[in-house]
Amino acid sequence: MTLRQTPEAIDWHALRELRDLFLAAEPVERPYWVSRDQLDAYDRTLGERIGWKWDAVLTELKARNWSPPSRKLTDFGCGTGIAVRRVLHAFPGAFDEVILHDHSAIAMGFARERIQAEHPGTPIRLGENEIPAEGVVLISHILNELPPEKLAELPEVLAKADALLWVEPGTMACSRALIAAREKLRATHTLVAPCPHQGACGLLLEENAAHWCHHFAPAPAHAHQDPFWGHFRREMNLEIGPVAYSFLVTDKTAKPDAGLSHLIGKPLRVPKYLRVLSCQESDIAELVASRRSGSVYRDLKGPASPALYKFERRKNRIVGGEWVGNGE
Ligand SMILES: C[S@@+](CC[C@H](N)C(=O)[O-])C[C@H]1O[C@@H](n2cnc3c(N)ncnc32)[C@H](O)[C@@H]1O
Repeated sequence: MTLRQTPEAIDWHALRELRDLFLAAEPVERPYWVSRDQLDAYDRTLGERIGWKWDAVLTELKARNWSPPSRKLTDFGCGTGIAVRRVLHAFPGAFDEVILHDHSAIAMGFARERIQAEHPGTPIRLGENEIPAEGVVLISHILNELPPEKLAELPEVLAKADALLWVEPGTMACSRALIAAREKLRATHTLVAPCPHQGACGLLLEENAAHWCHHFAPAPAHAHQDPFWGHFRREMNLEIGPVAYSFLVTDKTAKPDAGLSHLIGKPLRVPKYLRVLSCQESDIAELVASRRSGSVYRDLKGPASPALYKFERRKNRIVGGEWVGNGE
């Protein structure tokens, strides 16, 4: 399938309506996908930005030496299949079956075609009408759309998965819902990311009630020069990037990492120093970095993505350390 619309041919009005529906964050009762053109327009724009979030998550998983524990890959609420395509690209040859599930038949059909076009020969099965939890389960941007009863069922069903990769918008509500799922899943799964420890989430402490676990994925450099994305920005009134996301990765058999820190949100620039909110096994703390922190200051200032570090601390000052988001 080679359907690709020019920016002029895209129905931007319909895309803005879709954006507004997503921002409203209300449960949706019926599928809203109505045509292949609409799915294609989503896939090139809002879906592609979600792809950048997946790229950041997958980079982090590689930096943490994670690899898929099962050869089955399931996408729940697959839409156009952007999550599956990014995962197949990041782990070539790792899967021999893809299971797609969505309450929209037209979306599943579109996702299947796109996956087959990008990853020819991948066996694809369309899931039955229940929440599937086979092998490595992907969930992407579905939290806001599920009715409360389905949302409540999720952690118990997901406990059966070998691994779970779940990416959502970087809002407080989505982060808090992921934290609630995390607290249930840590009974059966190792917490792989973003968490640097296996204990209760520090954001559940009252003193951290104003914070939420979110991160920023950069847009690829070429997008900033690409006239298509200029068109997108004007039509959609959305910045190209970085895009905010929250996520959770769990795995039944993975060994937990030790000694890492994960930043929450963006570093705050103050003249001559930076303030960062950092999560580690010992605490969630506001830390201060300056030139005296050594080479890690440059990465914090960047800021580098994914925001995974090893810090040397003296109380709340970063006195050394390194960015480990590239796995080196
Ligand atoms: C915002 S889209 C995200 C699509 C895709 N996962 C992505 O990240 O681009 C949400 C998807 O969830 C699907 N969905 C919503 N409620 C659902 C339900 N109860 N069961 C299955 N799929 C559902 C929608 O049809 C839609 O494809």
